[in-house]
Amino acid sequence: MYCKFTGYEAKKIWAFGGGKGGVGKSFVAGNLGILLAQNGHTVILADLDLGGANMHTWLGVNSPKKSISEFIEREEQDIKKLLIPTDISGLNLLSGAKDGVEIANMKHTQKRRFITALRQLDADYIVIDLGAGTAYNTIDFFLLADSQGLIVIPEPTSIENAYRFIKNSFFRQVFHNSQGFELKNVVNEIMRKDNPHNVNTPRELIDYFNKLGGKSTVFIEEQIQYFMPKLILNQVRTERDQMVGPAMKKACLKYFNLNVKCIGQISFDDSVRKSVLERQPLAVAYSDSVPMEQLKLILTDLLKDDNENSGNNSILSQLTL
Ligand SMILES: Nc1ncnc2c1ncn2[C@@H]1O[C@H](COP(=O)(O)OP(=O)(O)O)[C@@H](O)[C@H]1O
Ligand SMILES: [Mg+2]
Repeated sequence: MYCKFTGYEAKKIWAFGGGKGGVGKSFVAGNLGILLAQNGHTVILADLDLGGANMHTWLGVNSPKKSISEFIEREEQDIKKLLIPTDISGLNLLSGAKDGVEIANMKHTQKRRFITALRQLDADYIVIDLGAGTAYNTIDFFLLADSQGLIVIPEPTSIENAYRFIKNSFFRQVFHNSQGFELKNVVNEIMRKDNPHNVNTPRELIDYFNKLGGKSTVFIEEQIQYFMPKLILNQVRTERDQMVGPAMKKACLKYFNLNVKCIGQISFDDSVRKSVLERQPLAVAYSDSVPMEQLKLILTDLLKDDNENSGNNSILSQLTL
């Protein structure tokens, strides 16, 4: 049985990204956050789509007075003071809605300070809603999570962006985790846009390390094992759409040599649009809708993973962030 955490740090961090805008990252992150709270957990929903943040509107919280920008710019030192209670018991919002810092432009020291503060927040779960794109900073917030959800819709543009997101995440993970090792210099060279080693795909990166042999092979094998984004296929309308998840999994293995896990799909459903127009989360307005039933299955899967991997499961736990 799941045991409630009583310490001072967030027990688990879940992040939802996917490269493309409009695929349903906020929809999935927000409703899963609510489901967790409804299951009795304390949850902080962190809206890291700085610049495009709208989780507050969607949760019915009126224009937040304070947002993450204040903390990043040191106008507010205590991140706890930024937490905004919501109508859902156990669920607090960390809003990203304020002009100011764009996540892509966040400086290294700002990011490190923010991540440290985020980890120290007292909650069972921190659910991070990421913005679009594959900027390093966005990917870093994805990688620091214990569970990494990748939202894809069955459209070529979303699929293409998801592959790019997977590729960049793996490269970035290897970069971070190599910083303490003797391989650091090689990796730093490879990460350069004009890398002299002709390494452009995860498979080429893996092959490169394997050719070096010895410790390099062990290192890259570990990186492959740690890397396990969880794919959620959203806005599914047809049987053909349903095939996209397994097809992507297969392609990742074949072309990238990487594993992704398909953890569920969500149908395209009118109830989602209705809930947005009514300014209510789906989990509240249409709790028995088909997408909610599917989100509950996804939640069960994510919780099961958490139970199997107790403790800090972040693949960047040794991290140089
Ligand atoms: N399963 C779905 N069925 C119908 N509409 C959806 C579904 N998922 C998302 N949408 C629509 O897509 C829009 C964008 O979703 P959002 O979560 O804001 O995307 P993102 O955060 O990835 O930019 C929402 O306004 C919603 O109306
Ligand atoms: Mg969003």
